[in-house]
Amino acid sequence: MSGPNTTETNGGGRTAALVEKDRRYLWHPFTQMQAWMGTEEPVVIERGEGHWLIDTEGRRYLDGVSSLWCNIHGHRVEAIDRAVSEQLKRIAHSTMLGLASVPSIELAEKLVSVAPAGLTRVFYSDAGATAVEAAIKIAFQYQRQTGNPSRTRFAALSLAYHGDTVGSVSVGGIEPMHGMFDPLRFETVRLPAPYCYRCPLGMSPDTCKLACADRAVALLEEHAATLAALIIEPLVMGAAGMIIQPPGYLKLVAYACRRLGILFIADEVATGFGRTGTMFACTQEGVRPDLLCAAKGITGGYLPLAATLATEAVFAAFFGNPRGREGLFARPYLHRQPARMRRGDREPRFARGVHRRSPGEGRGARRAPRPADRAA
Ligand SMILES: Cc1ncc(COP(=O)(O)O)c(C=O)c1O
Repeated sequence: MSGPNTTETNGGGRTAALVEKDRRYLWHPFTQMQAWMGTEEPVVIERGEGHWLIDTEGRRYLDGVSSLWCNIHGHRVEAIDRAVSEQLKRIAHSTMLGLASVPSIELAEKLVSVAPAGLTRVFYSDAGATAVEAAIKIAFQYQRQTGNPSRTRFAALSLAYHGDTVGSVSVGGIEPMHGMFDPLRFETVRLPAPYCYRCPLGMSPDTCKLACADRAVALLEEHAATLAALIIEPLVMGAAGMIIQPPGYLKLVAYACRRLGILFIADEVATGFGRTGTMFACTQEGVRPDLLCAAKGITGGYLPLAATLATEAVFAAFFGNPRGREGLFARPYLHRQPARMRRGDREPRFARGVHRRSPGEGRGARRAPRPADRAA
């Protein structure tokens, strides 16, 4: 898409040399590399300006996919450039393990302020797939720590895309992308995609009365006893081909999850940060997820950063004795303890006579934890 605004040329064969090295050293995602090595030279991007990409020959291309749904404000956005370089003058990275940091605190507060109501906790990672991976593991661990160890499975839509790590591939439903990994994938309860144009139930949107939602709810009901969570791309299934869910669908499945004790994970990696007209898509259906995955637009595509947001009720199930050792996200204090959480509870309900104790505190535990234990 060579435009009239060609700004510079790149003589001396630099582009050809870069292409040669690209072909020698690189492995591009979702790309048949044999075709990539073919006769057509790839475009080599060197700069960006607003919504334009500029290649090594000075040719300009409209970044119509906003660098795969990431650069939602465009490229070289002055305020973001400035913020990143100001931060680099202080420090590029410090660990979250055992340390707090200024930007992580400030961003978490900001995220909570714009997130759908009820999401109050932020767990950071570095890609959409890792945000999904974290949500899956949090949901699994949450169910175990709230007295539901049989809830180990996940429901997801056919044609879903949630990333390319093994957990996110397991809940993915685009068979040409994901089918190859079947032996590695955990089993998922597959709900029919709400795909009106090519309805998997063979119905028409004018007369179906959201039959796909009824079918999804029936499957959720059938498998509720073993389901930890449903994961869904709210409103728009991006990688499947921008499939727009019919109005009312999301609300129906979300309400079913709530009724059945299945956590609702909104994968807003693609739809988040204004992509569908509201900050997050699920609010358009009045849906309040238990977990929400955000990435891509979270940094305007500038940096690899992602976040998994959780409700206080989910967080509370991980909130325990600092001496406990188990658990990736925090120290579970419900290990082998009967406890229940109901929607709206901020803390688990314990069976009478059972006190909180960490996995390390077995027989001979001397005392019930003091409030200070909970300040971890
Ligand atoms: C809905 C959704 N979830 C997860 C991902 C994975 O994000 P990432 O490529 O940052 O791992 C994507 C990527 O396109 C996506 O569209």
